[in-house]
Amino acid sequence: MGYIIAMAGKGGTGKTTIAALIIRSIKERKLGSLLAIDADPNSNLGEILGVEPADSIGKILDDISAAPDKIPAGMPKDRFIEYRVQSAVSEGDGFDILSMGKPEGAGCYCYVNNVLRGVMTKLIKDYDYIVIDNEAGLEHLSRRTSRYADVLIVVSDASSVGLRSARRINELAKQLKFEVKKSLLLVNRFNKNIEEAKVKESGLDYLGSLPLDGGIEELSLKGEPIFNLRSEAPIIKTLNSLGERIWKLN
Ligand SMILES: Nc1ncnc2c1ncn2[C@@H]1O[C@H](COP(=O)(O)OP(=O)(O)OP(=O)(O)O)[C@@H](O)[C@H]1O
Ligand SMILES: [Mg+2]
Repeated sequence: MGYIIAMAGKGGTGKTTIAALIIRSIKERKLGSLLAIDADPNSNLGEILGVEPADSIGKILDDISAAPDKIPAGMPKDRFIEYRVQSAVSEGDGFDILSMGKPEGAGCYCYVNNVLRGVMTKLIKDYDYIVIDNEAGLEHLSRRTSRYADVLIVVSDASSVGLRSARRINELAKQLKFEVKKSLLLVNRFNKNIEEAKVKESGLDYLGSLPLDGGIEELSLKGEPIFNLRSEAPIIKTLNSLGERIWKLN
């Protein structure tokens, strides 16, 4: 079973950016095979990683549901779904990426969803690391990817409102019965560590803070991939100093 790092946090806190930075660090350290999962239907993880996405899982579900008879003769339906999912994995430089998307149709997806769960579990087993970028909030946290994470990183700003929202997200994860080995608070766009009293507001263990980084702002403006950020960028140095607690296999 691969080591799963999942991102959570309210809108715009920096989940996708930080997921991409973690992917970059794991890749550069050559820690093992790596699968990036974009579980946000308004996805942009592929763009920030500089990979052209293949069909999303949502699109595949729509195709199968719209034309259930279009399965190659002699191929069992579950085998066909597995084949389509495998072909949806794009190869990046040093990592693979899969986009979950969202089915648009109104058809019944129960059977396909059931098969998909098994296929995803099998796929995840093939990698040493899996980094999942989720949609804002946890209500929509994809049931199709994984209900387990070794590390859930809840990203927040340093405000009290933000920290309370991080607490709610973590509580929701528990209510939704996500099995998380450890949940960690990562404060983004803040240049120092937050006070202990504030950490308590989040109810989470504190991982650290990442600074506002001019290099990230520039990449974002130009639409350039995360790999174009210089290695000396403050945000990379800080993330790497927190790395052991994020990607260490234990
Ligand atoms: N530490 C940082 N320094 C500078 N800019 C940042 C930093 N973190 C994030 N940003 C910028 O903030 C914006 C939002 O970040 P991002 O898309 O990663 O957030 P998100 O939580 O994934 O948003 P969403 O909830 O919409 O998926 C982006 O333009 C990104 O470049
Ligand atoms: Mg995002």
